[in-house]
Amino acid sequence: MLGIETSCDETSAALLVGERSRPELASLVILSQDVHRVFGGVVPELASRAHLAALPAVVERALVEAGVGWHAVDAVAVTAGPGLVGALLVGVVYAKALAYAGDRALIGVNHLEGHLFAPLVEDPQLEPPFVALLVSGGHTLLLDVPAWGRYRLLGATRDDAAGEAFDKVATLLGLGYPGGPEIERLAATGDPTRFTFPRPMRDAGFEFSFSGLKTAVLHAVRGSDDLERDRPHLARAFQDAVLDVLVTKLERAIQATGYRIALLGGGVACSRALAELAARRLAGCARVAVASPRLNADNAAMIARAGWYRLALGERSDWTLDARADLPLPGLEPATLPDLTPHP
Ligand code: KG4
Ligand code: ZN
Repeated sequence: MLGIETSCDETSAALLVGERSRPELASLVILSQDVHRVFGGVVPELASRAHLAALPAVVERALVEAGVGWHAVDAVAVTAGPGLVGALLVGVVYAKALAYAGDRALIGVNHLEGHLFAPLVEDPQLEPPFVALLVSGGHTLLLDVPAWGRYRLLGATRDDAAGEAFDKVATLLGLGYPGGPEIERLAATGDPTRFTFPRPMRDAGFEFSFSGLKTAVLHAVRGSDDLERDRPHLARAFQDAVLDVLVTKLERAIQATGYRIALLGGGVACSRALAELAARRLAGCARVAVASPRLNADNAAMIARAGWYRLALGERSDWTLDARADLPLPGLEPATLPDLTPHP
């Protein structure tokens, strides 16, 4: 299975090989587009162009690293959404052309379902039921996952995504893009008692809100008479606030479901601080399943793994497969827990 991911600013290709129930990662190539650093965020048109220039070489490289030729590939899995539509389109059109010309199976994959499958690449024993916290630059979702392919939405963000909050606060602090890793690095040297930020919506329900927290950081930055001195402390207080909210909701969902596994996925799950806090607070109740950082950030291995699962069910896409910026997660079911939607 060749996987292709171009939904945002990573051009990635991967190969999964092996038996039907036990695929192994044979190669993973991730090319991060540096061009966006100059602008402090992803510029969609530049992302599309960079994907177009890089994708053929990235796919070729993944084949070489896996030690297989194109003839060994049975199927092509590609991210069809959600994401930047122009960026997605490059991957979708490329995958369609490859599959059509070579008469191979084509399978369009939902990017968020890809993030859910990331831990399975390294931990083949991982099985639902579990609660999943998907935290990326574009999404913040808490899901009850009773089985692969069945997703009950417990809560989402009402405004900014968790990763977006990290990126915006990093900008306020004068740090580079993407902000999450920079904040985590700086926070490690910060004093957690110097500043305290609010924990929006922490004490009720499963929904999230981060835009007020961002404003609180803005006021603290403006009120600082020495930003150089305060920067690590501000980063620490902000990170503590976000992680406290995320992990409190995760704990609440584990208690409500009685599940024994909490899965972390998405770019923010690269945060060691998040994984450590979740493991500490859930000790005795649930184990934390989280992939290594390479597989949490946007990558084609997770897309290939989700595609592998869908293909094994007998699903495949036809030649009308299209990129969709707002592609909904397949298999979404209504939430069944009581007290899940405390807000209208
Ligand atoms: O999943 P992802 O690679 O792309 C999207 O699908 O959005 O997530 C990227 C997000 C960025 O907002 C980035 O700041 C955040 O993940 N991120 C982190 C860390 N590493 C990446 N946030 C907090 N701490 C980190 N160590
Ligand atoms: Zn992502």
